[in-house]
Amino acid sequence: MKILFLDQSGKPGGAELCLMDIAKPYGDNALVGLFADGDFKNLLQQQQIPVEVLATQSIQVRKQSSLLQALGSVGQLTPLINKVIQRARKYDLIYANTQKALVVGAIASFFARRPLVYHLHDILSSEHFSKTNLRVAVTLANRFASLVIANSQASKKAFLQAGGQPELIEVVYNGFEPKKYQTSEEDIRQLQQELGFKDKFVVGHFSRLAPWKGQHILISAIAKSPPQVTAILVGDALFGEQDYVQELHQQVAELGLENRVRFLGFRSDIPQLMSACNLVAHTSTAPEPFGRVIVEAMLCGTPVVAAKAGGAIELVEPGINGFLVTPGEPQELTEIINICLQETEKTVTMANHARTTASQNFDVTTINQQISQLLKTVDLLHKS
Ligand code: UDP
Ligand code: GLC
Repeated sequence: MKILFLDQSGKPGGAELCLMDIAKPYGDNALVGLFADGDFKNLLQQQQIPVEVLATQSIQVRKQSSLLQALGSVGQLTPLINKVIQRARKYDLIYANTQKALVVGAIASFFARRPLVYHLHDILSSEHFSKTNLRVAVTLANRFASLVIANSQASKKAFLQAGGQPELIEVVYNGFEPKKYQTSEEDIRQLQQELGFKDKFVVGHFSRLAPWKGQHILISAIAKSPPQVTAILVGDALFGEQDYVQELHQQVAELGLENRVRFLGFRSDIPQLMSACNLVAHTSTAPEPFGRVIVEAMLCGTPVVAAKAGGAIELVEPGINGFLVTPGEPQELTEIINICLQETEKTVTMANHARTTASQNFDVTTINQQISQLLKTVDLLHKS
């Protein structure tokens, strides 16, 4: 089967990294059409996944208003839509991976007469999107998609609450290659030395810098933790959140934490960095749709604490494979940091258990088989 994947982003967020894993097994039978140039294209090329930047002009990618803008400016999008229609004729199925890809994909699926699959990586609620955007996304999915793949039960629930049709939606979690998350003791020690982790308890935060990802919560928690506790913030502002980056630096300066909080920017060595940390913290203040970083920490065998909302609740069983804290509450995070400092043995046992279960539950081979089965069914129904 030949699949045309569509994604609006030129930058590699979690949805894009997930798409890479899904597209890869299709080899030359896949084409990833992007609506913007950037590092995501380079990553796809490195993995030998066919990619083409289809947009002739950049489209805004902010979540709050852009979908409506995208619809309102369909005229402006005509060259892009035309290109997608042309490409789609050579493929069996259109796979929209983001909301603007859904808008363009829906129109193209209609004109090229190809079935449309929408991979829903978002919680369609007013905490994340404007009301109009919600309505547009759900209406287009209901009208044009043959299948909606939700990245968690939480994303599915929000889709249904927003008026999505129940018979359209299936939940498939993100898949991972467990081997990629195994780092040798020697490499871990070397990285710890390079980064000056000796005698420190390091809490890692791995996420793009954005207000709802809650890096400020971790900084507040560090300020209330014992002096050997330090943090690394790994990730960049991907979608223009420069004000937040400034606020974070200001917060660090005001709390006098310059020596205890480090900004490492976007990194490609996530497994190694996570393995070098004593704890990985996920601190989203709005419900996380899935939360790749939570599973990745588990696969590294590093203890993880996550904000108790959205998909994170499906991933973490408190006291069994990690910790959950109330979103937006630095005090609770400090308490967990103290537990990890004091109860090392118990925490290590928990992290080892998490590694084993995550390797079984989120294996990319199994997840890709699930997706492939779903797509085959859509294709067969369309052709029958
Ligand atoms: N990530 C990365 N480099 C960084 C920061 C993050 O490769 O510097 C990756 C991280 O390992 C994870 C993804 O970006 O796989 C973020 O996905 P997640 O689902 O946690 O959040 P999203 O940003 O998609 O909302
Ligand atoms: C989105 C969500 C994130 C999820 C990722 C992969 O970027 O924000 O929670 O893990 O997609 O599905």
